[in-house]
Amino acid sequence: MAEFNIAVVSGDGIGPEVTAEAVNVLKKIGEKFNHIFNFKYVLAGGCAIDEFGVCLPEETLEICKQSDSVLLGAVGGPKWDNVENKNRPEKALLGLRDGLGLFTNLRPATMYKALANASPLKPEIVEDGLDIMIVRELTGGIYFGDRGYRQGKYGEEAYDTEAYSKKEIERIARNAFDVAMQRNKNLVSVDKANVLESSRLWRKTVDEISKEYPEVKVSHMYVDNASMQLVRNPKQFDVILTSNMFGDILSDEASMITGSIGLLPSASIGDGRLGMYEPIHGSAPDIAGQNKANPIATILSVAMMLKYSFKLDKEAKAIEDAVISVLEKGYRTPDIMSEGMILVGTKEMGKVIADEINM
Ligand code: IPM
Ligand code: MG
Repeated sequence: MAEFNIAVVSGDGIGPEVTAEAVNVLKKIGEKFNHIFNFKYVLAGGCAIDEFGVCLPEETLEICKQSDSVLLGAVGGPKWDNVENKNRPEKALLGLRDGLGLFTNLRPATMYKALANASPLKPEIVEDGLDIMIVRELTGGIYFGDRGYRQGKYGEEAYDTEAYSKKEIERIARNAFDVAMQRNKNLVSVDKANVLESSRLWRKTVDEISKEYPEVKVSHMYVDNASMQLVRNPKQFDVILTSNMFGDILSDEASMITGSIGLLPSASIGDGRLGMYEPIHGSAPDIAGQNKANPIATILSVAMMLKYSFKLDKEAKAIEDAVISVLEKGYRTPDIMSEGMILVGTKEMGKVIADEINM
């Protein structure tokens, strides 16, 4: 029997509702497979600003660091739109990623067959589903580079810098190649090497690391072309490796074309076991507290936690299978509702998935 300590950052908006369902699903997994999951709830984001005046209290970061993994709901909302920049709820996310050393962000763009008609692309382009894994560098690049104000050619100007060290590129590239080895062994590295010096180092370093993975087919693509290829022929992609900023943009695009954007999880991992798992959707303040939010992305996030942090593949698969089966039985939250399907709320969706695990 194994025991795991999980820090839960429910956050704002629909965060607490969706994490509650994911926690219930984990408890079910614990019962069925004989594991103990302990949960410790901590504040970050807007709720932490309200309670402590800071978006990421030290205690939160400390508890997360000491845990085996972090489950995060969502942070932010219009209520905190006017707080000063360094204390915006989003800063809590960046602080957690950086503070926990989570330099690799895994964002699967998976199409669920039951929702295929929700893809905005023509059926022939997405026939037989989509399954892309975006590996985004998460603690470097322009998000964390030097920034500020200075005097420029036209007077005062603001600037942000994109910088990558060889070491940062090597470690994210290795993680991406490892992921590719578990999948279809096809990796496209996305950069802007025709313009950016940092991209030229990126490309050269990825090529060097690729020698350690002779089985993986590697190619390079400029980011403008990649964004076009994603809608033209998304099936050509297996693993996409890219920088923090390009990954932010491409992962939104990739998730949208699956038609399952509200269902997609993500994992942020580093060198060790500790990872942070969260749905890719936001805090949806407009539907918060109404039992309308779709908990599936958060439930699939704990499946990623089981797989990547705890190496419990069987347990992870039990969750994924339960989600697919519930979708096939026709259960739908309002965001994915269509004619003839069974409309359920957040709690009911969580419950049918948990019950499915028991079957
Ligand atoms: C994401 C989000 C964040 C990011 C924001 C909220 C800081 O867009 O996780 O993709 O840009 O990384
Ligand atoms: Mg984003």
